[in-house]
Amino acid sequence: MNTADSYRKMIDQALASIAYPAQPEGLYTPISYLLSTGGKRMRPVLLMLVSDMYGGDTATALQAAIALETYHNYTLMHDDLMDHADMRRGHETVHRKWDANTAILSGDTMLVKAYDLLLQCPSPRLDALVRLFTETALGIGEGQQYDMNFESRNDVSEDEYIEMIRLKTGVLIGCAMKMGAIIGGADEQEAGKVYSIGETLGLAFQLQDDYLDVYGNEAVFGKKTGGDIVNNKKTFLLIRALSKAKGKTHDELLRLTSGTAMDEKEKIAAVTAIYDSLHIGEDTSAVINNYFDGCRAILSSLSISAEARRPLGEYIYSLLGRKY
Ligand code: IPE
Ligand code: IPE
Ligand code: MG
Ligand code: MG
Ligand code: MG
Repeated sequence: MNTADSYRKMIDQALASIAYPAQPEGLYTPISYLLSTGGKRMRPVLLMLVSDMYGGDTATALQAAIALETYHNYTLMHDDLMDHADMRRGHETVHRKWDANTAILSGDTMLVKAYDLLLQCPSPRLDALVRLFTETALGIGEGQQYDMNFESRNDVSEDEYIEMIRLKTGVLIGCAMKMGAIIGGADEQEAGKVYSIGETLGLAFQLQDDYLDVYGNEAVFGKKTGGDIVNNKKTFLLIRALSKAKGKTHDELLRLTSGTAMDEKEKIAAVTAIYDSLHIGEDTSAVINNYFDGCRAILSSLSISAEARRPLGEYIYSLLGRKY
């Protein structure tokens, strides 16, 4: 078993051992339900790999890691409500299995619980961890708001899109990795580089998520594909397609993605056919690869031996081939 796998197991066990009250059942059961559906645990694994790389204490890193994963799952509970998503990790989403109010209140409770867990992290740098976490959470709210604002616009630029995904996805991965660097005792400059690796990885990761939302295999991806198309999300794929499409194809794409009610299946098929004809999948893959290269370049500039940074490098590399 490699280091990332063993950290993942440790994280799963620690999350499962958090005791949520039995009552009121309608508040806490959805929290345990969502946390039990798993997921990649990528942010806490990254946190622990980075902490380990700098010689940080494993128990300290684990406490911050479960706080962060609880926070991440809270964002998903609310995100699924906002995105009208029916499926997550191959299971029904909380607002579908219960209702919208449940997703709101259980989500709020998870956010508070995430702070509670972080405050129990026995690090002498706890103040820095809490400040970083707070700034990150504020940024994610901004990113999610831009994501929603963009649904009703069709002039979103690629730069605006990148800034939106930096906020909604990049900053949390940057935060996870920088927390590991802080716990491991890295200096400010080094921790800043580590943050940039995470932020850049987050861009690649969200682009990949957008790609998989169109081209992924539902059974593996664990989410319903086509959701971004149905919601008129300004993903990289749609923005690039709007800028590449000419004449009738451009008009047709605008009509399809301008909020007019139509059959979901037909809409997904029609938009995907336009993406295919414009080779948008290939364009997206190329941009994803560029960001992955970028984060590997920063990784090799860290003041850590090639040997010591190998587990982190390999884990990042493994994410390049992700299918879920
Ligand atoms: C989903 O994150 C939200 C995005 C930023 C795309 P993950 O793909 O890390 O979700 P899980 O936790 O592994 O299910
Ligand atoms: C996720 O973006 C961002 C956050 C949860 C903050 P998406 O809406 O694309 O994530 P998925 O595809 O539902 O996991
Ligand atoms: Mg979503
Ligand atoms: Mg969303
Ligand atoms: Mg998505």
